[in-house]
Amino acid sequence: MAPPPGSGPGSTDSPPAGSPLADRDAVLRDLSRYLATAWASFDRPRPSEPEADPRLLERLRTGLPAGPSDPQAALDDAVHVLESSVSPSRPLFLAYVGSSGLETSVLASALMATYDANLATAAGAADLLDRQAVRWVAEFVGFPAVEGHFTSGGQTSNLTALLAAREQALPGAREHGVAGYRTAVYCSDEAHHSVVRGVEAAGLGRRALRRIPTDDRRRMRVDALADALARDRADGITPMAVVATAGTTLTGAVDPLDGIADVCAESGMWLHVDGAYGLPAAATASAGHWFTGLDRADSVTVDAHKWLGMQKSCSVVLVRRRGALRAAFGHEERYMLHDEDAGNPVDSTFEYSRPFRSMRLWLSMRVHGAAQFRTWVETTLQNAARLTDAVRAHPEFELLHEPMLSTVCFRHVPAGLPADRLDVHNERLARAMQRDGRVFLAPAEVDGHTCLRACFVNFRTTPDAVDLVLEVAAELGGAAVSGAAAWAPWGSNPQPAD
Ligand SMILES: Cc1ncc(COP(=O)(O)O)c(C=O)c1O
Repeated sequence: MAPPPGSGPGSTDSPPAGSPLADRDAVLRDLSRYLATAWASFDRPRPSEPEADPRLLERLRTGLPAGPSDPQAALDDAVHVLESSVSPSRPLFLAYVGSSGLETSVLASALMATYDANLATAAGAADLLDRQAVRWVAEFVGFPAVEGHFTSGGQTSNLTALLAAREQALPGAREHGVAGYRTAVYCSDEAHHSVVRGVEAAGLGRRALRRIPTDDRRRMRVDALADALARDRADGITPMAVVATAGTTLTGAVDPLDGIADVCAESGMWLHVDGAYGLPAAATASAGHWFTGLDRADSVTVDAHKWLGMQKSCSVVLVRRRGALRAAFGHEERYMLHDEDAGNPVDSTFEYSRPFRSMRLWLSMRVHGAAQFRTWVETTLQNAARLTDAVRAHPEFELLHEPMLSTVCFRHVPAGLPADRLDVHNERLARAMQRDGRVFLAPAEVDGHTCLRACFVNFRTTPDAVDLVLEVAAELGGAAVSGAAAWAPWGSNPQPAD
Protein backbone atom coordinates (compact mmCIF):
# COMPACT_ATOMS: atom_id res chain seq x y z
CA MET A 1 0.00 0.00 0.00
CA ALA A 2 1.44 3.36 -0.96
CA PRO A 3 2.01 5.87 1.84
CA PRO A 4 -0.70 8.54 1.97
CA PRO A 5 0.11 11.65 -0.05
CA GLY A 6 2.51 14.00 1.69
CA SER A 7 3.59 11.53 4.35
CA GLY A 8 7.08 11.02 2.90
CA PRO A 9 8.74 7.69 2.26
CA GLY A 10 7.01 4.86 4.11
CA SER A 11 8.55 1.63 5.36
CA THR A 12 9.01 -1.00 2.68
CA ASP A 13 7.54 -4.47 3.06
CA SER A 14 9.37 -7.45 1.58
CA PRO A 15 8.54 -7.86 -2.09
CA PRO A 16 6.14 -10.69 -2.96
CA ALA A 17 7.65 -14.00 -4.10
CA GLY A 18 8.63 -13.86 -7.76
CA SER A 19 9.31 -10.10 -7.77
CA PRO A 20 12.00 -9.10 -10.26
CA LEU A 21 14.24 -7.83 -7.45
CA ALA A 22 14.29 -10.01 -4.32
CA ASP A 23 16.26 -7.62 -2.14
CA ARG A 24 15.17 -4.13 -3.14
CA ASP A 25 16.63 -2.49 -0.07
CA ALA A 26 20.10 -3.85 -0.83
CA VAL A 27 20.10 -2.59 -4.43
CA LEU A 28 18.76 0.79 -3.37
CA ARG A 29 21.52 1.09 -0.78
CA ASP A 30 24.06 0.24 -3.47
CA LEU A 31 22.52 2.70 -5.87
CA SER A 32 22.56 5.56 -3.40
CA ARG A 33 26.20 4.80 -2.57
CA TYR A 34 27.08 4.84 -6.28
CA LEU A 35 25.25 8.12 -6.83
CA ALA A 36 26.93 9.75 -3.84
CA THR A 37 30.37 8.64 -5.08
CA ALA A 38 29.66 9.87 -8.61
CA TRP A 39 28.39 13.26 -7.39
CA ALA A 40 31.46 13.69 -5.20
CA SER A 41 33.72 12.86 -8.17
CA PHE A 42 31.96 15.53 -10.26
CA ASP A 43 32.96 18.22 -7.75
CA ARG A 44 36.49 18.44 -9.22
CA PRO A 45 38.10 17.71 -12.59
CA ARG A 46 39.47 14.18 -12.92
CA PRO A 47 43.28 13.95 -12.86
CA SER A 48 43.26 11.59 -15.85
CA GLU A 49 41.01 9.46 -18.05
CA PRO A 50 40.74 5.94 -16.53
CA GLU A 51 41.12 2.85 -18.70
CA ALA A 52 38.29 0.28 -18.62
CA ASP A 53 39.15 -2.98 -16.79
CA PRO A 54 39.97 -5.67 -19.43
CA ARG A 55 37.75 -8.19 -17.57
CA LEU A 56 34.83 -5.77 -17.86
CA LEU A 57 35.53 -5.37 -21.58
CA GLU A 58 35.47 -9.17 -21.87
CA ARG A 59 32.04 -9.28 -20.19
CA LEU A 60 30.79 -6.65 -22.66
CA ARG A 61 31.42 -9.11 -25.49
CA THR A 62 29.24 -11.94 -24.15
CA GLY A 63 25.89 -12.93 -25.72
CA LEU A 64 22.34 -12.64 -24.43
CA PRO A 65 22.08 -13.98 -20.87
CA ALA A 66 19.69 -16.93 -20.79
CA GLY A 67 19.07 -16.85 -17.06
CA PRO A 68 19.23 -14.51 -14.08
CA SER A 69 22.34 -13.15 -12.42
CA ASP A 70 23.16 -11.14 -9.32
CA PRO A 71 21.64 -7.64 -9.70
CA GLN A 72 24.30 -6.08 -7.48
CA ALA A 73 27.08 -7.44 -9.70
CA ALA A 74 25.27 -6.14 -12.79
CA LEU A 75 24.82 -2.74 -11.16
CA ASP A 76 28.50 -2.72 -10.31
CA ASP A 77 29.41 -3.36 -13.97
CA ALA A 78 27.01 -0.64 -15.12
CA VAL A 79 28.77 1.85 -12.85
CA HIS A 80 32.20 0.72 -14.07
CA VAL A 81 31.12 1.27 -17.66
CA LEU A 82 30.00 4.80 -16.79
CA GLU A 83 33.19 5.52 -14.86
CA SER A 84 35.19 4.54 -17.97
CA SER A 85 33.04 6.68 -20.28
CA VAL A 86 32.78 10.34 -21.12
CA SER A 87 30.34 12.16 -18.83
CA PRO A 88 29.18 15.73 -19.51
CA SER A 89 28.51 16.03 -15.77
CA ARG A 90 32.25 16.45 -15.10
CA PRO A 91 33.25 20.07 -14.56
CA LEU A 92 35.72 20.22 -17.43
CA PHE A 93 33.62 18.49 -20.03
CA LEU A 94 33.56 21.42 -22.45
CA ALA A 95 33.31 19.57 -25.76
CA TYR A 96 29.71 20.28 -26.66
CA VAL A 97 26.70 22.14 -25.38
CA GLY A 98 25.71 19.26 -23.13
CA SER A 99 23.69 18.50 -20.08
CA SER A 100 25.33 18.39 -16.67
CA GLY A 101 23.26 16.02 -14.56
CA LEU A 102 21.98 18.35 -11.86
CA GLU A 103 21.41 16.20 -8.77
CA THR A 104 17.84 17.38 -8.16
CA SER A 105 16.96 16.48 -11.71
CA VAL A 106 18.45 13.01 -11.17
CA LEU A 107 16.07 12.53 -8.25
CA ALA A 108 13.16 13.53 -10.48
CA SER A 109 14.44 11.14 -13.18
CA ALA A 110 14.29 8.26 -10.72
CA LEU A 111 10.78 9.21 -9.64
CA MET A 112 9.40 9.75 -13.13
CA ALA A 113 10.87 6.45 -14.31
CA THR A 114 9.45 4.65 -11.29
CA TYR A 115 5.88 5.85 -11.77
CA ASP A 116 6.32 6.02 -15.56
CA ALA A 117 3.31 8.30 -16.16
CA ASN A 118 2.52 8.83 -19.83
CA LEU A 119 1.63 12.42 -20.65
CA ALA A 120 0.11 11.42 -23.98
CA THR A 121 -3.26 11.14 -22.26
CA ALA A 122 -4.78 12.76 -19.20
CA ALA A 123 -2.53 11.63 -16.34
CA GLY A 124 -4.10 13.34 -13.33
CA ALA A 125 -2.19 15.81 -11.18
CA ALA A 126 0.82 15.22 -13.42
CA ASP A 127 -0.90 17.31 -16.11
CA LEU A 128 -1.14 20.27 -13.74
CA LEU A 129 2.52 19.98 -12.77
CA ASP A 130 3.45 19.71 -16.46
CA ARG A 131 1.56 22.90 -17.32
CA GLN A 132 3.05 24.70 -14.32
CA ALA A 133 6.56 23.71 -15.45
CA VAL A 134 5.84 25.03 -18.96
CA ARG A 135 4.71 28.35 -17.42
CA TRP A 136 7.83 28.49 -15.24
CA VAL A 137 10.16 27.99 -18.22
CA ALA A 138 8.31 30.67 -20.19
CA GLU A 139 8.54 33.09 -17.25
CA PHE A 140 12.21 32.30 -16.71
CA VAL A 141 13.25 33.12 -20.29
CA GLY A 142 10.71 35.96 -20.70
CA PHE A 143 8.48 34.56 -23.42
CA PRO A 144 4.69 35.14 -23.28
CA ALA A 145 3.70 31.55 -24.01
CA VAL A 146 0.06 30.50 -23.97
CA GLU A 147 0.92 26.86 -24.38
CA GLY A 148 3.85 24.57 -24.83
CA HIS A 149 5.21 21.11 -24.19
CA PHE A 150 8.23 19.25 -22.98
CA THR A 151 9.71 17.25 -25.84
CA SER A 152 12.49 14.78 -26.58
CA GLY A 153 14.97 17.44 -27.72
CA GLY A 154 15.73 20.60 -29.65
CA GLN A 155 15.27 18.69 -32.88
CA THR A 156 11.70 17.73 -31.93
CA SER A 157 10.89 21.16 -30.53
CA ASN A 158 12.08 22.84 -33.73
CA LEU A 159 10.15 20.37 -35.88
CA THR A 160 7.02 20.90 -33.76
CA ALA A 161 7.23 24.65 -34.33
CA LEU A 162 7.89 24.24 -38.06
CA LEU A 163 4.84 22.00 -38.45
CA ALA A 164 2.69 24.57 -36.65
CA ALA A 165 4.13 27.30 -38.91
CA ARG A 166 3.45 25.15 -41.97
CA GLU A 167 -0.22 24.79 -41.06
CA GLN A 168 -0.50 28.54 -40.57
CA ALA A 169 1.22 29.44 -43.86
CA LEU A 170 -0.31 26.64 -45.94
CA PRO A 171 -3.68 25.82 -44.31
CA GLY A 172 -4.74 22.28 -45.17
CA ALA A 173 -1.20 21.09 -45.91
CA ARG A 174 -1.76 18.31 -43.37
CA GLU A 175 -4.61 17.04 -45.52
CA HIS A 176 -3.36 17.73 -49.03
CA GLY A 177 0.40 17.68 -48.61
CA VAL A 178 2.70 20.43 -49.86
CA ALA A 179 3.12 19.27 -53.45
CA GLY A 180 1.17 22.18 -54.92
CA TYR A 181 3.00 24.85 -52.95
CA ARG A 182 6.25 26.71 -53.44
CA THR A 183 7.37 27.83 -50.02
CA ALA A 184 10.49 28.95 -48.17
CA VAL A 185 11.97 28.87 -44.67
CA TYR A 186 14.76 31.26 -43.67
CA CYS A 187 17.59 30.74 -41.20
CA SER A 188 21.15 31.94 -40.87
CA ASP A 189 24.24 30.26 -42.27
CA GLU A 190 25.05 29.27 -38.71
CA ALA A 191 21.69 27.66 -37.78
CA HIS A 192 21.74 24.15 -36.35
CA HIS A 193 21.23 21.19 -38.67
CA SER A 194 17.99 20.33 -36.87
CA VAL A 195 16.40 23.17 -38.87
CA VAL A 196 17.48 21.51 -42.13
CA ARG A 197 16.10 18.19 -40.91
CA GLY A 198 12.90 19.85 -39.79
CA VAL A 199 12.38 21.33 -43.25
CA GLU A 200 13.09 17.94 -44.82
CA ALA A 201 10.74 16.13 -42.43
CA ALA A 202 7.99 18.70 -43.03
CA GLY A 203 8.07 17.63 -46.68
CA LEU A 204 9.22 21.02 -47.96
CA GLY A 205 12.47 19.79 -49.44
CA ARG A 206 15.84 21.16 -48.45
CA ARG A 207 15.78 23.58 -51.37
CA ALA A 208 13.05 25.48 -49.56
CA LEU A 209 15.63 26.53 -46.97
CA ARG A 210 17.29 29.92 -47.47
CA ARG A 211 20.58 30.20 -45.58
CA ILE A 212 20.90 33.92 -44.86
CA PRO A 213 24.45 35.31 -44.57
CA THR A 214 25.71 36.56 -41.22
CA ASP A 215 27.38 39.76 -40.03
CA ASP A 216 30.80 40.14 -38.41
CA ARG A 217 29.40 38.75 -35.13
CA ARG A 218 28.00 35.72 -36.94
CA ARG A 219 24.36 36.87 -36.64
CA MET A 220 21.73 36.71 -39.36
CA ARG A 221 21.80 39.88 -41.49
CA VAL A 222 18.35 41.45 -41.37
CA ASP A 223 18.89 43.31 -44.67
CA ALA A 224 19.81 40.03 -46.39
CA LEU A 225 16.72 38.39 -44.90
CA ALA A 226 14.46 41.17 -46.22
CA ASP A 227 16.11 40.89 -49.67
CA ALA A 228 15.65 37.10 -49.79
CA LEU A 229 12.03 37.48 -48.79
CA ALA A 230 11.38 40.12 -51.46
CA ARG A 231 13.03 37.92 -54.12
CA ASP A 232 10.88 34.95 -53.13
CA ARG A 233 7.69 36.97 -53.14
CA ALA A 234 8.50 38.32 -56.59
CA ASP A 235 8.97 34.69 -57.71
CA GLY A 236 5.54 33.69 -56.35
CA ILE A 237 6.98 31.72 -53.43
CA THR A 238 5.02 31.69 -50.14
CA PRO A 239 7.36 32.49 -47.20
CA MET A 240 6.59 30.09 -44.36
CA ALA A 241 8.81 30.89 -41.39
CA VAL A 242 12.02 32.42 -40.18
CA VAL A 243 14.04 30.35 -37.72
CA ALA A 244 16.26 32.75 -35.78
CA THR A 245 18.94 31.25 -33.58
CA ALA A 246 19.42 32.53 -30.05
CA GLY A 247 22.78 30.97 -29.30
CA THR A 248 24.32 29.28 -32.33
CA THR A 249 25.89 25.92 -31.66
CA LEU A 250 29.32 26.79 -33.07
CA THR A 251 30.00 30.17 -31.47
CA GLY A 252 26.97 31.16 -29.36
CA ALA A 253 25.83 34.03 -31.60
CA VAL A 254 22.34 35.43 -30.99
CA ASP A 255 20.53 36.64 -34.13
CA PRO A 256 19.05 40.18 -33.95
CA LEU A 257 15.60 39.06 -32.85
CA ASP A 258 13.95 42.48 -32.85
CA GLY A 259 14.98 43.31 -36.41
CA ILE A 260 13.96 39.86 -37.60
CA ALA A 261 10.61 40.23 -35.78
CA ASP A 262 10.04 43.50 -37.73
CA VAL A 263 10.52 41.67 -41.04
CA CYS A 264 8.19 38.87 -39.93
CA ALA A 265 5.55 41.29 -38.69
CA GLU A 266 5.50 43.14 -42.03
CA SER A 267 4.89 39.94 -43.94
CA GLY A 268 2.79 38.04 -41.38
CA MET A 269 5.39 35.30 -41.30
CA TRP A 270 5.93 32.89 -38.39
CA LEU A 271 9.02 33.61 -36.31
CA HIS A 272 10.52 30.67 -34.48
CA VAL A 273 13.48 31.22 -32.16
CA ASP A 274 15.79 28.25 -31.77
CA GLY A 275 17.15 28.93 -28.31
CA ALA A 276 17.89 25.27 -27.61
CA TYR A 277 21.28 26.23 -26.26
CA GLY A 278 21.26 29.96 -25.61
CA LEU A 279 17.83 30.94 -24.33
CA PRO A 280 18.53 30.56 -20.58
CA ALA A 281 20.94 33.49 -20.95
CA ALA A 282 17.89 35.68 -21.67
CA ALA A 283 17.23 35.46 -17.92
CA THR A 284 20.59 37.00 -16.97
CA ALA A 285 21.56 40.58 -16.29
CA SER A 286 24.76 40.40 -18.31
CA ALA A 287 23.48 38.73 -21.51
CA GLY A 288 19.73 39.43 -21.41
CA HIS A 289 20.05 42.42 -23.76
CA TRP A 290 20.97 40.16 -26.70
CA PHE A 291 17.45 38.70 -26.60
CA THR A 292 15.43 41.90 -27.12
CA GLY A 293 12.47 41.04 -29.35
CA LEU A 294 12.15 37.47 -28.07
CA ASP A 295 8.63 38.23 -26.83
CA ARG A 296 7.57 38.97 -30.42
CA ALA A 297 8.30 35.44 -31.66
CA ASP A 298 5.52 32.97 -32.43
CA SER A 299 7.38 30.05 -30.90
CA VAL A 300 10.63 29.23 -29.15
CA THR A 301 12.73 26.19 -28.35
CA VAL A 302 14.75 25.88 -25.16
CA ASP A 303 16.58 22.74 -24.14
CA ALA A 304 16.51 22.42 -20.38
CA HIS A 305 18.97 19.56 -20.92
CA LYS A 306 21.62 22.00 -22.05
CA TRP A 307 22.21 25.17 -20.01
CA LEU A 308 19.64 24.41 -17.29
CA GLY A 309 21.44 21.26 -16.16
CA MET A 310 18.62 18.73 -16.62
CA GLN A 311 19.29 15.20 -17.84
CA LYS A 312 18.63 14.35 -21.46
CA SER A 313 16.19 14.69 -22.68
CA CYS A 314 14.22 17.69 -21.51
CA SER A 315 13.46 20.21 -24.23
CA VAL A 316 10.58 22.67 -24.29
CA VAL A 317 8.68 24.21 -27.18
CA LEU A 318 6.62 27.30 -26.32
CA VAL A 319 3.96 28.88 -28.50
CA ARG A 320 2.38 32.33 -28.31
CA ARG A 321 -0.98 31.69 -30.04
CA ARG A 322 -3.54 29.32 -28.59
CA GLY A 323 -4.73 26.72 -31.06
CA ALA A 324 -1.65 26.75 -33.30
CA LEU A 325 -0.44 23.37 -32.01
CA ARG A 326 -3.90 21.78 -32.12
CA ALA A 327 -4.26 22.96 -35.72
CA ALA A 328 -1.04 21.14 -36.57
CA PHE A 329 -1.48 17.95 -34.53
CA GLY A 330 -5.14 17.51 -33.46
CA HIS A 331 -6.76 14.22 -34.44
CA GLU A 332 -9.54 11.84 -33.50
CA GLU A 333 -8.78 8.15 -32.91
CA ARG A 334 -10.99 5.31 -31.69
CA TYR A 335 -8.41 4.23 -29.13
CA MET A 336 -8.19 7.71 -27.60
CA LEU A 337 -11.58 9.34 -27.50
CA HIS A 338 -12.04 13.04 -26.87
CA ASP A 339 -13.98 14.21 -23.86
CA GLU A 340 -16.44 16.31 -25.90
CA ASP A 341 -14.27 18.82 -27.73
CA ALA A 342 -11.47 18.86 -25.15
CA GLY A 343 -8.27 17.52 -26.70
CA ASN A 344 -5.89 14.98 -25.27
CA PRO A 345 -2.34 16.17 -24.75
CA VAL A 346 -1.30 14.31 -27.93
CA ASP A 347 -3.64 16.58 -29.89
CA SER A 348 -1.03 19.30 -29.56
CA THR A 349 2.23 17.32 -29.62
CA PHE A 350 4.29 15.66 -32.30
CA GLU A 351 5.29 12.77 -30.05
CA TYR A 352 2.96 10.08 -28.78
CA SER A 353 4.31 8.33 -25.67
CA ARG A 354 5.51 11.20 -23.50
CA PRO A 355 7.57 10.60 -20.37
CA PHE A 356 7.04 13.00 -17.49
CA ARG A 357 10.13 15.05 -18.41
CA SER A 358 8.80 18.24 -16.89
CA MET A 359 9.16 16.75 -13.41
CA ARG A 360 12.92 17.24 -13.69
CA LEU A 361 12.65 20.96 -14.24
CA TRP A 362 9.76 21.37 -11.83
CA LEU A 363 11.55 19.67 -8.93
CA SER A 364 14.79 21.53 -9.64
CA MET A 365 13.12 24.95 -9.93
CA ARG A 366 11.07 24.23 -6.82
CA VAL A 367 14.13 23.23 -4.77
CA HIS A 368 16.67 25.80 -6.03
CA GLY A 369 14.52 28.69 -7.27
CA ALA A 370 14.92 30.83 -10.38
CA ALA A 371 17.56 33.09 -8.79
CA GLN A 372 19.92 30.16 -8.33
CA PHE A 373 19.50 29.10 -11.95
CA ARG A 374 20.22 32.67 -13.05
CA THR A 375 23.37 32.64 -10.94
CA TRP A 376 24.50 29.35 -12.44
CA VAL A 377 24.05 30.68 -15.98
CA GLU A 378 25.84 33.93 -15.07
CA THR A 379 28.73 31.93 -13.62
CA THR A 380 29.17 29.99 -16.85
CA LEU A 381 29.14 33.26 -18.81
CA GLN A 382 31.89 34.53 -16.51
CA ASN A 383 33.83 31.31 -17.04
CA ALA A 384 33.67 31.85 -20.80
CA ALA A 385 34.81 35.46 -20.37
CA ARG A 386 37.69 34.29 -18.19
CA LEU A 387 38.89 31.85 -20.85
CA THR A 388 38.42 34.49 -23.56
CA ASP A 389 40.65 36.94 -21.63
CA ALA A 390 43.26 34.26 -21.02
CA VAL A 391 43.35 33.34 -24.72
CA ARG A 392 43.76 37.01 -25.66
CA ALA A 393 46.61 37.41 -23.19
CA HIS A 394 48.49 34.24 -24.20
CA PRO A 395 51.05 34.63 -27.01
CA GLU A 396 50.54 31.05 -28.21
CA PHE A 397 46.75 31.09 -28.53
CA GLU A 398 44.44 32.89 -30.90
CA LEU A 399 40.74 33.73 -30.46
CA LEU A 400 38.64 32.98 -33.56
CA HIS A 401 35.52 35.03 -32.76
CA GLU A 402 34.11 37.54 -30.31
CA PRO A 403 32.01 35.41 -27.90
CA MET A 404 28.49 36.63 -27.11
CA LEU A 405 27.48 33.81 -24.77
CA SER A 406 29.44 30.94 -23.27
CA THR A 407 31.17 29.28 -26.24
CA VAL A 408 34.78 30.11 -27.03
CA CYS A 409 36.60 28.94 -30.19
CA PHE A 410 40.35 29.37 -30.13
CA ARG A 411 43.46 27.70 -31.43
CA HIS A 412 47.01 26.93 -30.46
CA VAL A 413 49.47 28.86 -32.63
CA PRO A 414 52.90 27.89 -31.25
CA ALA A 415 55.87 29.92 -32.41
CA GLY A 416 57.66 28.33 -35.35
CA LEU A 417 54.79 26.13 -36.47
CA PRO A 418 54.06 26.86 -40.14
CA ALA A 419 50.55 28.20 -40.85
CA ASP A 420 49.70 25.23 -43.04
CA ARG A 421 50.28 22.85 -40.09
CA LEU A 422 47.93 24.63 -37.69
CA ASP A 423 44.75 22.78 -38.65
CA VAL A 424 46.31 19.34 -38.23
CA HIS A 425 48.03 20.44 -35.04
CA ASN A 426 44.83 21.71 -33.42
CA GLU A 427 42.83 18.65 -34.43
CA ARG A 428 45.51 16.46 -32.84
CA LEU A 429 45.67 18.65 -29.80
CA ALA A 430 41.92 18.29 -29.23
CA ARG A 431 42.20 14.50 -29.53
CA ALA A 432 45.21 14.47 -27.19
CA MET A 433 43.22 16.46 -24.64
CA GLN A 434 40.38 13.97 -24.85
CA ARG A 435 42.75 11.08 -24.19
CA ASP A 436 44.43 12.95 -21.35
CA GLY A 437 41.06 13.46 -19.68
CA ARG A 438 41.73 16.48 -17.48
CA VAL A 439 39.93 18.80 -19.90
CA PHE A 440 37.55 17.28 -22.42
CA LEU A 441 37.06 19.42 -25.49
CA ALA A 442 36.47 18.74 -29.15
CA PRO A 443 37.84 20.23 -32.35
CA ALA A 444 35.60 22.45 -34.48
CA GLU A 445 36.00 24.58 -37.58
CA VAL A 446 35.56 28.34 -37.71
CA ASP A 447 36.05 30.16 -41.03
CA GLY A 448 38.01 27.21 -42.38
CA HIS A 449 40.34 27.02 -39.35
CA THR A 450 40.37 23.90 -37.18
CA CYS A 451 40.23 25.01 -33.57
CA LEU A 452 39.43 24.04 -30.00
CA ARG A 453 35.87 24.81 -28.90
CA ALA A 454 35.02 25.23 -25.22
CA CYS A 455 31.33 25.38 -24.25
CA PHE A 456 30.56 26.48 -20.70
CA VAL A 457 27.14 25.30 -19.59
CA ASN A 458 28.05 23.25 -16.52
CA PHE A 459 27.23 24.84 -13.16
CA ARG A 460 30.07 22.79 -11.59
CA THR A 461 32.91 24.51 -13.47
CA THR A 462 34.93 26.75 -11.14
CA PRO A 463 37.24 29.61 -12.21
CA ASP A 464 40.27 27.53 -11.10
CA ALA A 465 39.14 24.75 -13.38
CA VAL A 466 38.82 27.24 -16.25
CA ASP A 467 42.49 28.13 -15.80
CA LEU A 468 43.37 24.49 -16.38
CA VAL A 469 42.07 24.70 -19.96
CA LEU A 470 44.94 26.76 -21.38
CA GLU A 471 47.43 25.16 -18.99
CA VAL A 472 46.64 21.68 -20.34
CA ALA A 473 46.30 22.88 -23.95
CA ALA A 474 49.70 24.61 -23.77
CA GLU A 475 51.33 21.59 -22.13
CA LEU A 476 49.96 19.00 -24.58
CA GLY A 477 50.26 21.36 -27.55
CA GLY A 478 53.90 22.07 -26.69
CA ALA A 479 54.61 18.36 -26.27
CA ALA A 480 52.99 17.61 -29.62
CA VAL A 481 55.16 20.22 -31.36
CA SER A 482 58.42 19.12 -29.77
CA GLY A 483 57.58 15.40 -30.12
CA ALA A 484 56.72 15.81 -33.76
CA ALA A 485 59.71 18.08 -34.40
CA ALA A 486 62.09 15.53 -32.90
CA TRP A 487 60.58 12.80 -35.03
CA ALA A 488 60.29 14.63 -38.32
CA PRO A 489 60.54 18.34 -38.98
CA TRP A 490 57.32 19.98 -40.19
CA GLY A 491 56.99 19.19 -43.83
CA SER A 492 55.47 16.58 -46.04
CA ASN A 493 56.43 13.60 -43.81
CA PRO A 494 53.64 11.85 -41.93
CA GLN A 495 53.32 13.00 -38.33
CA PRO A 496 53.43 10.65 -35.35
CA ALA A 497 50.21 10.07 -33.43
CA ASP A 498 50.25 12.31 -30.37
C1 LIG B 1 20.94 25.64 -31.51
C2 LIG B 1 20.56 24.18 -31.44
N1 LIG B 1 19.37 23.79 -31.90
C3 LIG B 1 18.96 22.51 -31.85
C4 LIG B 1 19.78 21.54 -31.33
C5 LIG B 1 19.31 20.11 -31.29
O1 LIG B 1 18.99 19.79 -29.97
P1 LIG B 1 18.81 18.28 -29.48
O2 LIG B 1 20.16 17.64 -29.57
O3 LIG B 1 18.29 18.43 -28.10
O4 LIG B 1 17.82 17.63 -30.39
C6 LIG B 1 21.04 21.90 -30.83
C7 LIG B 1 21.94 20.87 -30.28
O5 LIG B 1 23.05 21.15 -29.87
C8 LIG B 1 21.44 23.25 -30.88
O6 LIG B 1 22.63 23.66 -30.41
